[in-house]
Amino acid sequence: MKKQDNVVILDHVLIKHKIAILRDEKTSMKQFRELVEEITTLMIYESLKDGVPTVEIEVKTPLETCMQSVVKDDSIVVIPILRAGLGMVNGVHVLFPTAKVGHIGMYRNEETLEPITYYCKLPDGIEDKLVLVLDPMLATGGSACDAIELLKQRGCKNIKFMAIIGAPEGILRVAEAHPDVKIYVSTLDRELNENGYILPGLGDAGDRLFGTK
Ligand code: PRP
Ligand code: URA
Repeated sequence: MKKQDNVVILDHVLIKHKIAILRDEKTSMKQFRELVEEITTLMIYESLKDGVPTVEIEVKTPLETCMQSVVKDDSIVVIPILRAGLGMVNGVHVLFPTAKVGHIGMYRNEETLEPITYYCKLPDGIEDKLVLVLDPMLATGGSACDAIELLKQRGCKNIKFMAIIGAPEGILRVAEAHPDVKIYVSTLDRELNENGYILPGLGDAGDRLFGTK
């Protein structure tokens, strides 16, 4: 895949281990859901090393007082793309329990593969927050592009996109459409099939999370 400055493929050995189990068609719905949460927590830990707003506070140890930087309360908003992005939210809350959650509902038209937006509810004051857009699957990139565009129209300036599995064509599409948005993908897969599914992928993430189909 052509290198893009705003794309990070995490390729972390521990995340890849969990993704191997996630892909397996025999993995149960319960285990799939738990893995998506665990992978998301690892992704956040790995990708936000120095990208989180902090404040300095005074801490009194048993020996003396010192200044320490802590994560700024209420500085992060999480936006899952429904449905599958919902599976990642708890994985973020493990690390940022006070993060508010906005929802963008989208599904792909099965013929055109273009996304259709059916729901949007965002927290007030989102413009100045670090906005983490979550979707486990980045396939053609249509859903990610439209979700990011919608957030920009609402004034968001600091957006990061997180996907567990990405296809080269989708990653490139989002990276080129939104060069100011950092895109984190845990693992890069080979290609899309004729129905817009990622290969080898894991199938339909929403169905596997929620037991539909
Ligand atoms: C899946 C997935 C992404 C989208 C990715 O959602 O969760 O949102 O497809 O595909 P794209 O990159 O080609 O846009 P889907 O449309 O299946 O809806 P669902 O999560 O409700 O099942
Ligand atoms: N959405 C999914 O859930 N899986 C894919 O492979 C592509 C889009």
